[in-house]
Amino acid sequence: MYTKKVMKHFTHPKNVGEIKNADAKVMEGSLACGDIISLYLKINPKTHVIKDIKFKSYGCAANIATTSIMTEMVKGKTIDKMKKLEFKDITKALGGLPPMKIHCSVLAIDALKSAIRNYEEKHGLAKPEDLNESILRSRLRHVMDPKHGKDIVTLGVVQDVKFKKGVVTLLLEISKDDESYSHIMHEIEERIAYIPGVKKIEKNFID
Ligand code: FES
Repeated sequence: MYTKKVMKHFTHPKNVGEIKNADAKVMEGSLACGDIISLYLKINPKTHVIKDIKFKSYGCAANIATTSIMTEMVKGKTIDKMKKLEFKDITKALGGLPPMKIHCSVLAIDALKSAIRNYEEKHGLAKPEDLNESILRSRLRHVMDPKHGKDIVTLGVVQDVKFKKGVVTLLLEISKDDESYSHIMHEIEERIAYIPGVKKIEKNFID
């Protein structure tokens, strides 16, 4: 079912692990299967070259292989160039993937794009967009609850999103005793606090 190259990257994946003090760090989940990967980037602040990249995958063989080869493809390249990388580029580099495993390569690319976007927003490099509630909601779709392998919009944690004069007001349904509570609160900040145009996030909770 898999090419030799896929098997090579699956059995001997490159750049596995974490980067301490990473310049960008994301946890991304697949809407198709619920698997999750964490991606860490170290970026040269002057040249914007990706100096280092590491990952951890809680996905399948195809996801480990596609993320592994993707890390090799992006290391040493600029974030501008790598924003244009597509899942087709990495599946091609692996000699192809079975059609039902294409979404595993999409997960690798989604994580890369989220990490780059997060870096650009934190460093004032992102172009301001016409921010609205649906954009904010789509960003929150990237916040995963690792316990369920689903995002917080799908899980119903996000009950409402409002945006007015730079203030994001969220209505959330989650208990402070939930084991994912701190992780989710941190990820919400990471995903939306740095978007150009966001001045403040107010979180309200359903009792
Ligand atoms: Fe989930 Fe491959 S089946 S990442």
